Amino acid sequence: MAANSIAFTLIFCLGLCALQVTSRTLQDDSMYERHQQWMSHYGKVYKDSQERESRLKIFAQNVKYIESSNNADSNKSYKLGINQFADLTNDEFTTSRNKFKGHMCSSITRTSTFKYENASAVPSTVDWRKKGAVTPVKNQGQCGCCWAFSAVAATEGIHQLTTGKLVSLSEQELVDCDTKGVDQGCEGGLMDDAFKFIIQNHGLSTEAQYPYQGVDGTCSANQASTQAATITGYEDVPANNEQALQKAVANQPISVAIDASGSDFQFYKSGVFTGSCGTQLDHGVTAVGFGIGSDGTKYWLVKNSWGTDWGEEGYIRMQMGVDAVEGLCGIAMQASYPTA
Ligand SMILES: *[C@@H]1O[C@H](CO)[C@@H](O)[C@H](O)[C@H]1NC(C)=O
Ligand SMILES: *[C@@H]1O[C@H](CO)[C@@H](O)[C@H](O)[C@H]1NC(C)=O
Repeated sequence: MAANSIAFTLIFCLGLCALQVTSRTLQDDSMYERHQQWMSHYGKVYKDSQERESRLKIFAQNVKYIESSNNADSNKSYKLGINQFADLTNDEFTTSRNKFKGHMCSSITRTSTFKYENASAVPSTVDWRKKGAVTPVKNQGQCGCCWAFSAVAATEGIHQLTTGKLVSLSEQELVDCDTKGVDQGCEGGLMDDAFKFIIQNHGLSTEAQYPYQGVDGTCSANQASTQAATITGYEDVPANNEQALQKAVANQPISVAIDASGSDFQFYKSGVFTGSCGTQLDHGVTAVGFGIGSDGTKYWLVKNSWGTDWGEEGYIRMQMGVDAVEGLCGIAMQASYPTA
């Protein structure tokens, strides 16, 4: 009898263990499968199986984070999603892309004139895309030149508003040629310094004439020889004042600096972003409007330069009027715009 009972216990145990092993393997398999699908969707190739293994681990952690965030609170006004950054840790993500130099240069001088100071009758909704003043979303890739994309988008906006022509302009010209001052291509820069360069350079080439490469290059005099659009000056929006920013955005697309370092920013998919974030400005983007979400939350409509897979086809709606003068993620701290 004793032998029988031991045998039974053994079989039971084996059965249980086998079951556990199987279920764990299935889970791993499905994550492996999801990673595999994600890799082919984004054309991702790793140099060897070791790197693949370690990226799979990070991918799995991120997927878990995204799913638990989406499930935790069904009332949350925004959702996260698995995007092209899903195999990067938050550290890797922020160090490679977000190179706005705001907090590194404490000696930034701000202009004092603000032409929209007395602007009245600010509407409740503005969307410059609908007025044809915004080019399609671009992708900066792994080059930290967000500052160039932000300045170019604002320049494209004012050019369209004054000439009626929407022309996609060259970020690469800024990356390659605007190198004598603060701006350092993929290593970072400031929108105001980009505006200074555009003024001194009497304009920028088109995107088609001087296409984006995503790496630091040598300034091509030939490609930079045609100025497709120019500006005559630039102004800063009074700092830490969302009302002033709203007046400015009501009149043209505005370059804004934000703190985009959070995981929720990395994986933002849709909705009005109300996530927690800091005010260590590290990313340059463009405010192209504002409005009121379905639950009544007011938001800034912001064009990013991370392609159309990120966020709402490349855009994010960020909560407006938070309980801090800096605005959510510091959006009201260093806004500026070119003048025609
Ligand atoms: C969700 O929102 C509704 C309506 O605003 C509120 O009554 C409810 O308490 C919220 N639920 C949670 C979990 O926050
Ligand atoms: C705004 O109005 C004040 C008072 O009338 C005036 O002094 C100021 O110059 C105006 N600002 C602009 C930018 O027009």
